[in-house]
Amino acid sequence: MTKDLPSKKRGVHFNPDNVDTVVEAGANLLQAAIDAGVHINASCGGTGVCGTCKVLIEKGKVETTRTEKLSEEEYEQGVRQACQSRVISDLTVYIPVESRLEKAIISREEKVAPEALATGWRFNPPLSKFFVELPPPTLEDNISDLSRVLRNLKRQYHLNNMTVDFDVVKKLPQLLRDSHWKATVTTLVTAVKPRGAEKRRPRVINIEPGDTRGKYYSLAFDIGTTTVCGQLLDLNRGKAIAQGIDYNGQIKYGEDVITRIAYCQKPDGLKKLQQAVIATINGVINQLLAQTGVELKYIAHIVVAGNTTMLQLLLGLNPKYLRLAPYTPAANLIPPMKANSLGIKVAEQAYLFAFPLIASYVGGDIISGIVGSGVYQRKKLAFFVDIGTNGEIVVGNSDWMVTASCSAGPAFEGGGVKHGIIATTGAIEEFDINPSDLEPVIGTIGGEKPKGICGSGLINIAAGLLEAGVIGQNGKFNTNLPTKRIRQGSDGYEYVLARAPETQIGKDIVITEADIDNLIRTKAAMYAGCQTLTQSVEISCSDLEQVIIAGAFGRHINIENAITIGLFPDIPRDRFIFIGNGSLLGARLVSFSTDLLDDARRVAKMMTNFELSENVDFMNNYVAALFLPHTNTNEFPSISKKLGLPGSKLKRRITA
Ligand code: FES
Repeated sequence: MTKDLPSKKRGVHFNPDNVDTVVEAGANLLQAAIDAGVHINASCGGTGVCGTCKVLIEKGKVETTRTEKLSEEEYEQGVRQACQSRVISDLTVYIPVESRLEKAIISREEKVAPEALATGWRFNPPLSKFFVELPPPTLEDNISDLSRVLRNLKRQYHLNNMTVDFDVVKKLPQLLRDSHWKATVTTLVTAVKPRGAEKRRPRVINIEPGDTRGKYYSLAFDIGTTTVCGQLLDLNRGKAIAQGIDYNGQIKYGEDVITRIAYCQKPDGLKKLQQAVIATINGVINQLLAQTGVELKYIAHIVVAGNTTMLQLLLGLNPKYLRLAPYTPAANLIPPMKANSLGIKVAEQAYLFAFPLIASYVGGDIISGIVGSGVYQRKKLAFFVDIGTNGEIVVGNSDWMVTASCSAGPAFEGGGVKHGIIATTGAIEEFDINPSDLEPVIGTIGGEKPKGICGSGLINIAAGLLEAGVIGQNGKFNTNLPTKRIRQGSDGYEYVLARAPETQIGKDIVITEADIDNLIRTKAAMYAGCQTLTQSVEISCSDLEQVIIAGAFGRHINIENAITIGLFPDIPRDRFIFIGNGSLLGARLVSFSTDLLDDARRVAKMMTNFELSENVDFMNNYVAALFLPHTNTNEFPSISKKLGLPGSKLKRRITA
């Protein structure tokens, strides 16, 4: 491959993907991989600070800037940060397992308790189909083809004041004659019912020959920062018939929204990010069609929910101003649009409805979750929390709602944690510790050899270490304990969870003091956010009657452990309810009910957003929460009792 290259060209071979590419000499190695369609983790988007893009240079030479993320030992072995390396010669590059994306995403079953579901809605999808059998035109009855269709819709179905897409008019004359005047009209409700009006004004979006009422489908999507999850909905049966999931293709440009917003400011950055997520959506649609055999032409509606940045990127709206004060989204209500105008590979009649956006970091996913979980319908005072890369929270009930985003950081999705990974096979999720010898007992997702720690695992590990006295309330290791599991590592003190031979990555998997510190900051932001919202309405966290936990990994959190570290308020455990992917839940329900579609817009208007980044109360609450579980033990009475606080010793503390 390489011998015939012009002098300024270099060949790069990526293993284990077995992909060859040719780049200019001096090209950035991470960019070379992206351009070749090879995935290398790049949490920080290539700024050099995360260390997730490590690769092994098996053959050839790169010019590199070594950062503190690369140990001397790794450097000696030929490991380099791809984002900090320039291609000098022809290369063979090996991408180790920890720098690759695990293909098997865990999509675990999500059954929602009825007390955390929207109720009272009718099954009246925004999308409808009507079969018409038209009398052929005669000299006595020679109204236009379109008028003939509309006249029948009025006579048969009492449909008035319809608007009609021009694409329908274009195909009408031939289609009606070819189908012997028997056709199925698809209508879509896209607008809110005007105040005082009895009915909405549906739009005719398609006409098909014959009777196709048995075949009509829509799609519900949650566009997450990490994963994109979609469901194919059969509107005749009122149920989801298939579910598909994939990593958001934008991951290669950075793992969190801030990094992606920054990437957008590069030339063609916005376009690349938009294309990446649309390619992911198209891939998920293909999964759904393959699972069911449904034909693409029968899908006429897509409902998407996602955080503000994800939705703006999907729609090609520059998110630059989301991170600049005063942090404004492009629009609160996004007008419906043809999905294929964005590049989504569906039939031309399909419309896309995006959930409303509230603020920079409070987006359509939280509205979707609130609608789906019915928080806005009940008198019960609820705390709704969607735990993802951002912790989005809502406190309220049917009368009022306050909301905020806590910038929780990506710790729960594996970001900023030395051996952090998203919830996938081999991720350490369960943890216990033998109090007599401090040996760990770990359990992984899928029962495979461990290769990292997922978010729920991180919480369980921190709680276990705290209860055993291995770490103190400040998150620091008790280095006097009689165990070799605690040691000084390259990033400070660490506890060895699994030794190299027991792991998939051939290295010890550890949790470091820096990881615990990261977790403490994340959980402090979430708890302080909850406290600040409750204080703003002069109540306290203990007044919350329901805590609804949404989010990809929310369902797998051990509530007791989460309260032990101070992530959630110390209230009776039976008040906690998991709803899994709340964003997808709301998108699905809105596809089934026009009533809920209206409610989504009403909920968006009901919410009062708090910008926490400059809120003094939040800062005070945050600082107070930088302790396990909290500096104020009265906030966590049952945990204080369990740990033997306040007092000099933890109940289960081991002393040297
Ligand atoms: S250090 Fe290379 S992508 Fe973060």
